[in-house]
Amino acid sequence: MAAGNGLILYHILGLASFAALLYFSICGVDIRHALPSIGGGASSRVASLPFVERRGARFFLDGRPFYLNGWNSYWLMDQAVEPDTRHRVSRMFSAAAAMGLTVCRTWAFNDGAYNALQLSPGKFDERVFKALDRVVAEATQHGVRLILSLANNLDAYGGKRQYVRWAWEEGVGLTASNDSFFFDPAIRDYFKVYIKTLLTRKNHLTGLQYKDDPTIFAWELMNEPRCTSDPSGDTLQRWMEEMAAYVKSIDKKHQLTVGTEGFYGPTSPPDKLSVNPGDWYPNNYGLDFIRNSKIADIDFASVHVYPDTWLRHANLDEKLKFVKGWITSHVEDGDKELDKPVLVSEFGLSHLVEGFQDSHRDAIYKAVYDIVHGSATRGGAGAGAFVWQLSAEFMEEYHDGFAIVPSERPSMQRLITRQSCRLAALRYGEAEANRVVKTMCA
Ligand SMILES: *[C@@H]1O[C@H](CO)[C@@H](O)[C@H](O)[C@H]1NC(C)=O
Repeated sequence: MAAGNGLILYHILGLASFAALLYFSICGVDIRHALPSIGGGASSRVASLPFVERRGARFFLDGRPFYLNGWNSYWLMDQAVEPDTRHRVSRMFSAAAAMGLTVCRTWAFNDGAYNALQLSPGKFDERVFKALDRVVAEATQHGVRLILSLANNLDAYGGKRQYVRWAWEEGVGLTASNDSFFFDPAIRDYFKVYIKTLLTRKNHLTGLQYKDDPTIFAWELMNEPRCTSDPSGDTLQRWMEEMAAYVKSIDKKHQLTVGTEGFYGPTSPPDKLSVNPGDWYPNNYGLDFIRNSKIADIDFASVHVYPDTWLRHANLDEKLKFVKGWITSHVEDGDKELDKPVLVSEFGLSHLVEGFQDSHRDAIYKAVYDIVHGSATRGGAGAGAFVWQLSAEFMEEYHDGFAIVPSERPSMQRLITRQSCRLAALRYGEAEANRVVKTMCA
């Protein structure tokens, strides 16, 4: 690994861990071969990385406030299974680290679909678990941390619908309703078995259990949970409380979030309800942002924002106004109501939506980044933003209209890098940041 990469790692992981990492990266240019041969020593070096901590509405890393720039690549485990696609994982981490991105949100689930991790309730494919091990180990090697999501509300990679189907097939399901994922006792037990298996998984490359691995920044209960059959929000709330407590009973070292899009619900004050996206009001999809995020075992809140699909007929100014209002409102909740950080864990614009222009994407991204930077400058709860989504080259079949290959979009690359640099400047001070991250910020 080149010295330049070492400097980026220094920036990301902080002074204390730099020496260990430099040693680590000199030792193993390719962790895939290096780790088994250096054996137990590798796991103690990984284990000596600091965990991200939370104090009130801020994250801390190595004693300093940690405002992060992140991204989504949902497909990492999937692509790490087959030898001929694995290189995409390394390429993605390298490209992201070169833009100063520090945290990646990705799926740690694949329930019953192609290359499934969970083949059937409680039965796992070791080959796919090894692929996830590899993703975690490669993240460590690139100085990137991970948010690992545990289930999908949507159908991709199985989702809650697959759990319901399993319960039905095993003759234990209460109903065929997709929302029974949240209330059926048998299905809640299935999900707990999966949680326990994942959190206590021993990584075959590092020897570390996932629950003890500081490369993992946080667990996310579910991608975009919704329970439309109960708009009171009680069903989802109970599920979140139960699953959050279960995760914490196994793992108290990592941060935990729900994975909500951020819709306000029945217990929110009227001025908050009116922040929900236009046409959808008053439909809250069973969510209730403030109540959900107040759960004691939940460490931070999340919002998603999709101005072009949520506000189909709005012009750019209207979309910008919505995005600013939506994120500002939730960051304010983090500061005043929750005393917890708030991450924009997905935001994006699809080129498939009529009227799309690259310049619109740049404008919306900049608006999101400015709010996070503004909050960070004040020591506030706006903890970071994650673009949905970045992709490696030559994987168009994984594109959903939102995907950006950084090397193909120089203006976007600059925008993302600039955000990383100014957040680093807040963390280290301008002069120090320029020294530390010179390779990308100069
Ligand atoms: C569950 O969701 C899928 C789509 O995600 C839908 O096709 C199916 O009809 C739903 N099942 C029930 C019982 O509503």
